[in-house]
Amino acid sequence: MGEIIVADRLCRSFPSGSETVHALKEVSLTVRERELTVLRGPSGSGKTTLINLLGALDLPTSGSIRFMGEEISALGEAKRDALRRSRMGFVFQTIGLISHMSAFENVDFALRISGFPAAERAEWADHCLHLVGMSKRRDHRPFELSGGEQQRVAIARAVSNRPRIIFADEPTSALDTHLGLQVVRLFRDLVRDEGMTVLMTTHDPNLMEIADGIWSLRDGSLAKGDGDD
Ligand SMILES: Nc1ncnc2c1ncn2[C@@H]1O[C@H](COP(=O)(O)OP(=O)(O)O)[C@@H](O)[C@H]1O
Ligand SMILES: [Mg+2]
Repeated sequence: MGEIIVADRLCRSFPSGSETVHALKEVSLTVRERELTVLRGPSGSGKTTLINLLGALDLPTSGSIRFMGEEISALGEAKRDALRRSRMGFVFQTIGLISHMSAFENVDFALRISGFPAAERAEWADHCLHLVGMSKRRDHRPFELSGGEQQRVAIARAVSNRPRIIFADEPTSALDTHLGLQVVRLFRDLVRDEGMTVLMTTHDPNLMEIADGIWSLRDGSLAKGDGDD
């Protein structure tokens, strides 16, 4: 399977008062297509910093990121925006559904913003809800759904524009272990059955067995594997 992301010696530093925080130190990694890749590490190890770079939400201090063969750190802001909208889907820890819209309307609205053809939109939104097992809850608003169900709707929304990759930053951290496992299994099924590519971060060691590939961050440095030594 091909590599969708190749990152080489990424560094990201943040000025912090008179000091500099080196959040990522010479991080090199690859993410393969049609796999579920997990990026693990304790809180503060640099997971969010790294996923934000790979998802073109932020730029590295140094180093290179090739996404589908294209160097993204060389792109201007407008081109990175366009790349994100057309090729990437995002799922965040803070689920971020629109509270006065039903599950269906949340997905449908995202499709409308992305310019999806109007005639096929409702059918496709329902298909995306079906993929995440939320067809029966399509007319419920977020407050009528459990945290796990809300996260499923957010995943339906993320997959709806047919991204080449879904970035999910700690999508399970607001959920209990059981619901968290369901969300990770859903990602695994989307990878296995729908040919999607998912990169997710977690600090939960219980979710590892489902991953195709694991990278571990510690203090801004990366190692391949689950990092247990
Ligand atoms: N915008 C920022 N300004 C200053 N320091 C930051 C910023 N973002 C992250 N950091 C620091 O970088 C390190 C890694 O943070 P983060 O990537 O959020 O870790 P994780 O997601 O693994 O918990 C932490 O020490 C954090 O305080
Ligand atoms: Mg984080």
